[in-house]
Amino acid sequence: LNNGLALTPQMGWNSWNFFACNINETVIRDTADALVSTGLADLGYNYVNIDDCWSNVKRGKKDQLLPDPKTFPSGIKDLADYVHGKGLKLGIYSDAGIFTCQVRPGSLHHEKADAAIFASWGVDYLKYDNCYNLGIKPKDRYPPMRDALNSTGRQIFYSLCEWGQDDPALWAGKVGNSWRTTDDIQDTWKSMTDIADKNNKWASYAGPGGWNDPDMLEVGNGGMTFAEYRAHFSIWALMKAPLLIGCDVRNMTKETMEILSNKEVIQVNQDPLGVQGRRILGQGKNGCQEVWAGPLSGNRLAVVLWNRCEESANIIVKLPSVGLDGSSPYSVRDLWKHETLSENVVGTFGAQVDVHDCKMYIFTPAVTVASS
Ligand code: DGJ
Repeated sequence: LNNGLALTPQMGWNSWNFFACNINETVIRDTADALVSTGLADLGYNYVNIDDCWSNVKRGKKDQLLPDPKTFPSGIKDLADYVHGKGLKLGIYSDAGIFTCQVRPGSLHHEKADAAIFASWGVDYLKYDNCYNLGIKPKDRYPPMRDALNSTGRQIFYSLCEWGQDDPALWAGKVGNSWRTTDDIQDTWKSMTDIADKNNKWASYAGPGGWNDPDMLEVGNGGMTFAEYRAHFSIWALMKAPLLIGCDVRNMTKETMEILSNKEVIQVNQDPLGVQGRRILGQGKNGCQEVWAGPLSGNRLAVVLWNRCEESANIIVKLPSVGLDGSSPYSVRDLWKHETLSENVVGTFGAQVDVHDCKMYIFTPAVTVASS
């Protein structure tokens, strides 16, 4: 969507994966504080997004949306001011149906008024869900909110949450800044890998202004191993997915923080070229030794070697298979070791990768010194 936003994928935090409906204004404020105090905000995680359950079950006398008086007694404007005061942005949630998934009021047929109230509160981001949609096609339900947001005059990031219904990559580029390509992620290896494969299919439709959204991060929620979370984060970054943290940032382990704060991996995600990396090939049994890659600015290439097999594997890449020149030297940097491994890789490159783990690299044409 050409609204000046999403030139790179959105980064931030969202309440749903960890808190579900157990949210309140204190959680949101403390999360904003934690994003700043941990340094995550400085790394680019700047949207603080409230998901379902913030609103009262009934609209007000003038049909207006109201915050739940028990959990958000100070109101959303107050919260937006607080979050803005920290240098962050506030996101909110509604639904392109008559109710949200947790049966709070939906915005279908209330688009203008609801967009206006969000803008008046100082909201910067809207996630727009797909429950209770009366069987109306997403192509008909999502554009009215785009137009309503646009007519507020406030720049508001528009995140479609239509769960991949009707192949959004094919039509949502003109509607939203990102669109979900799948149904909800769960905190399991199976869910995460299935979603990666589904999202991969739509790679060519992503770009500055509009991104494929394979759903929010589960890193730090406990259902996967360190290796699996590292792979989850690396592949999401490579696929130019939104990097929306889904854990409790007030209580993160060192390992969770190590993953989420990997600046070199974040830079791949936020690279200005904005091309979604994709699965290039699979070797070994069932092709489970996978090579994923995507171009970066400056003639560089990001490469992920992802071992989805059940034993450790030596994954080997012939450089032309990922689009590199087979006879020129490349410098190879390991983004998890934070180390340049070689300035002179020619022809092939390989590495041992643990079960469900990955290695992530940037290949840069080596600087050759001209000789006379
Ligand atoms: C379904 C969405 O896909 C989730 O991300 C979350 O927003 C829930 N609805 C909230 O009810």
